[in-house]
Amino acid sequence: MSRIEARWTTPLGSLAVFEPSTQALAHAAEGLARFYNEPHNAALLSNTLLFSSDDVIDFWRDAAADGSRAFLFARDGEVVGDGDFRNAVQGAAELAVLIGPRALQGLGLGARFVLMMLRVGFERLALKRVFVAIRPANAASLRLFERAGFVRDETPAARAYAEEDDDICMMLARATFFAHHAEVVQAMDVTENSLPRYS
Ligand SMILES: CC(C)(COP(=O)(O)OP(=O)(O)OC[C@H]1O[C@@H](n2cnc3c(N)ncnc32)[C@H](O)[C@@H]1OP(=O)(O)O)[C@@H](O)C(=O)NCCC(=O)NCCS
Repeated sequence: MSRIEARWTTPLGSLAVFEPSTQALAHAAEGLARFYNEPHNAALLSNTLLFSSDDVIDFWRDAAADGSRAFLFARDGEVVGDGDFRNAVQGAAELAVLIGPRALQGLGLGARFVLMMLRVGFERLALKRVFVAIRPANAASLRLFERAGFVRDETPAARAYAEEDDDICMMLARATFFAHHAEVVQAMDVTENSLPRYS
């Protein structure tokens, strides 16, 4: 079991996307619970329960046991969100991301962390296609994924990721990502070490 980490120095700060150790996840859990419980975030993420720190840890562990690969997002060393690849089937997976503090949304962080996640997914997790399912009211998310190169997808493979009937499903293929983002991809560093992931 190894831990993947991506780093990118941007005008918004030094960004890192990383799979945490057990200790790092425990350290971040209280902040993540706050992010998940924030009413605006909870609605867009279709979260219906209030999370405690322990719930967050259990949620991450259960997701890992189901094959998800989850990452913390840090800016200048501070955890500001998270993202994961879940429901992987035959080289495809669903991506979900969160910039937790409302004050940090809309600054361009989400767009950058998504590009970092996509490089990790396509390069290190051998994904060929990445899907997203978005609430129609989530204008930031729709715009963000369109700008990343995602296109609307009504195929059964894409609709399988929808949680609600009116979710908008989108897809990005590996070749499209590397063709559109070659410059950005070169600016990031992705490494993998042999230290254990959280458990
Ligand atoms: C959705 C989310 C990840 C976007 O990240 P962000 O850092 O807020 O977004 P960015 O600042 O990177 O903006 C991305 C694009 O959306 C646009 N945008 C940002 N906020 C917007 C808003 N409220 N309405 C319309 N467009 C918006 C930006 O202008 C940008 O487009 P541009 O590149 O053409 O300028 C973040 O807001 C979030 O975590 N929201 C709550 C949870 C969530 O919805 N997760 C996604 C589930 S699929």
